[in-house]
Amino acid sequence: MAIMIAIAGITKTFHLGELDVSVLKGINFSVENGEYVAIMGASGSGKSTLMNIIGCLDRPTSGSYILDGRDLTTLDDDELADIRNQYIGFVFQQFNLLPRLTALENVMLPMIYADVSRTERIESATEALEKMGLSDRLNNRPNQLSGGQQQRVAIARALVNNPALVLADEPTGALDTTTSHEIMALLTKLNQNGTTIAIVTHDPTVAAQTKRIINMQDGVIVETGKIGK
Ligand SMILES: Nc1ncnc2c1ncn2[C@@H]1O[C@H](COP(=O)(O)OP(=O)(O)OP(=O)(O)O)[C@@H](O)[C@H]1O
Ligand SMILES: [Mg+2]
Repeated sequence: MAIMIAIAGITKTFHLGELDVSVLKGINFSVENGEYVAIMGASGSGKSTLMNIIGCLDRPTSGSYILDGRDLTTLDDDELADIRNQYIGFVFQQFNLLPRLTALENVMLPMIYADVSRTERIESATEALEKMGLSDRLNNRPNQLSGGQQQRVAIARALVNNPALVLADEPTGALDTTTSHEIMALLTKLNQNGTTIAIVTHDPTVAAQTKRIINMQDGVIVETGKIGK
């Protein structure tokens, strides 16, 4: 099977004044096309830092990252942003919707960079929201939606450009148990349809729904194993 993510010897050091904080200390792993993985580990172990690098939101201090066969190490910021828009959808714990925009407008945002007309953007965003069961909430602003509905808007936004890779950092962290199950069911279905997904979570029941768990501890991967599905 083709490899989606190939990461070798990745380190990340933050500079805080005089202080160097070494957060990732040599990360190696790969994710195949179509995989469904969970990244677990204690608070501060470097999960979000790693996700930001995988998502092309940040760069490693050293090491190599090959995404779908393309070496990202040598790309400039614009090229990296293009890759991000083309390949990656993000889902965050706090939804990260723009409060002044409606659900429809939030979902239309990622298509600003794609070369599509406003009519097409409205059509695609409407369709993405319909798939999330939100056809009657298109014109609601985030504060007029429940947490679960807001996360479904965020997932619609993540999916509207048909990304090959979806990265979710604690997608159920701000949701109650029932809503959390609904969101995981949506992500699981998405994976069944072929999208590669990586989820950061503290919740073992969330992780158990994926097919492989990567455990991080203090900036390194200590364990990665299939969970028999
Ligand atoms: N921009 C930054 N500048 C300096 N230090 C940072 C920065 N971002 C993260 N860190 C530090 O890196 C370490 C790892 O942070 P990270 O957010 O990756 O952890 P995490 O595993 O996602 O934790 P949590 O489970 O709490 O979300 C922490 O000690 C944090 O303080
Ligand atoms: Mg985090």
